[in-house]
Amino acid sequence: MVAVTVYLAAIAIGLTVAFFKFIYRRRRPNEPEIVPGNLLWGNGAEFAEHAVNFLHRCQKKFGDIFTIRLLNQYITLVLDPHSYENLAREKVFDFDPIQRQVNHNVFNFELIDARKMLSEAGKKVNGRFLTTGMRNFADNLKNAFAKVSTVDENGNIYQTIGDNWGQDGLRDLTSKTLFSALFYTIFGQGDAIETFEPQTFYKNFDSFHKYFNYLWLGLPVKLFPKATAALNVLSQQPTSDEMLKRPGVSDYIKFSTEFMKANNQSEQDIVGHNLVFLHVNYNTFRLAFWVLYHILDDRATFMALHKEVQDLVERKTETATENGPLGISIEEFDKLPILDSIIRETLRVTSGVFMVRYITQDVEFEMDNGDKALMREGDRVAMYPPAIHKDPEIFEDPEIFKHDRFVDAKFYKNGKELKNPLVAFGSLCPGKKYSLLQTKWFLVNLMNSFDVRLVEGQKTECDVNYYGHEILPPTNDVQVQYRLKEKFQELDFLARRQC
Ligand code: HEM
Ligand SMILES: *[C@@H]1O[C@H](CO)[C@@H](O)[C@H](O)[C@H]1NC(C)=O
Repeated sequence: MVAVTVYLAAIAIGLTVAFFKFIYRRRRPNEPEIVPGNLLWGNGAEFAEHAVNFLHRCQKKFGDIFTIRLLNQYITLVLDPHSYENLAREKVFDFDPIQRQVNHNVFNFELIDARKMLSEAGKKVNGRFLTTGMRNFADNLKNAFAKVSTVDENGNIYQTIGDNWGQDGLRDLTSKTLFSALFYTIFGQGDAIETFEPQTFYKNFDSFHKYFNYLWLGLPVKLFPKATAALNVLSQQPTSDEMLKRPGVSDYIKFSTEFMKANNQSEQDIVGHNLVFLHVNYNTFRLAFWVLYHILDDRATFMALHKEVQDLVERKTETATENGPLGISIEEFDKLPILDSIIRETLRVTSGVFMVRYITQDVEFEMDNGDKALMREGDRVAMYPPAIHKDPEIFEDPEIFKHDRFVDAKFYKNGKELKNPLVAFGSLCPGKKYSLLQTKWFLVNLMNSFDVRLVEGQKTECDVNYYGHEILPPTNDVQVQYRLKEKFQELDFLARRQC
């Protein structure tokens, strides 16, 4: 169904622009080679089918740098991981038009003075705000855990403890715990609008995200009735004045709302921006799902992490001076080597992101090995982290999940050590630290207070149709059983380092 609409739309768009302008494109001297493709959609079909395999094929044939076309956009791909720093540093490679493209095409709004707003807003999820944000997140997570461990079945309310296992989809469970905590940490609490709550947003984001790549490329949302319907639900939000008054609303949303109001942006613009922010945070939810899946799917991974968390809790219990929840500081749960490695390994295998920049003027780009290539104003340049993450020369057996792969490890390509072997956050993501800490806190607490197991035979994998999303979603959910442990020591997020 989708495919037909998409091809029709591709043809319409393709005919108007591609035909006149782009088929006459000739490669100039010293420009990268152009990968041959379909007259209308360029390399779009092969890219959509399996981006990593397609790019690896091109790399074999054309080397570490070449140009592809997706509909009407030429994109030069730099597949050499050593050139990542050069690309990230290059001044004429601009992220702004890319972010504008997402805002405009997908979420239907413009952000005035975007650069200032994003750099200021980025500060609201880092530094001292990181600790306040984490404090709120930890509280919201505690509430969410309490809710899922009390099940109401046919009017019988029971605790998921002892023989009373709870059962749910792992994605559903992660949405009711982690995503719920994220939602309330961002937007605070309040009940003015019934649909403005985590489960409604989780479900509607799910339908909406299916169309993300098509919308991003410029196909109108009206072509996809399901996306339009979801977007309508997601747009039912408190007014900006109501939002500012919600108890617990994040410093980020306070700042962005006031900033946009000061620029006289419309309520609809503010709504669109709130959605983008929730959308980037949704990556944390996808990441946490995958980490949990790998922990539950592989006994060795589970045992290694379980021991690490238990050791931490025991160590803290021995030195605790009073009863009550054990305070754990950021330094303590951020530096657990196994947990850290599991998360990195999960990012490696599930990251689907496209790191794209707009080229603002003709430039001679120098690769790490000294090779130079001319790049054209108006084109895009990109790195494709998943192609690096699945390179067998860098990561032995790239298809296999190894929980300790990143423990004290170095990675090499062409005999030279990589400065950044994992580029799942690109070079610009301001939420990296926050997101990783939230994921870690979630996992440490879950492992500490719950027994969780996959229902026999449940399997899933990354849905490669979503390449281009920061973290790929699974092809299907898996059923899990969970219950509270009979005995555990409650943990508390410690905002300050203990002396
Ligand atoms: C697992 C979680 C996440 C992943 C994998 C991820 C990944 C990314 C990537 C790949 C980019 C593009 C960067 C580039 O091209 O150099 C990006 C941008 C961005 N991310 Fe994240 N992100 C995550 C979580 C978050 C969170 C939690 C926030 C907010 C608190 C956030 C806020 C942003 C913003 C605002 C941008 C745009 C930056 C700009 O325009 O300068 N991200 N993210
Ligand atoms: C916003 O509108 C107010 C009232 O119309 C005006 O005084 C102010 O200059 C406007 N601000 C901006 C940034 O356009």
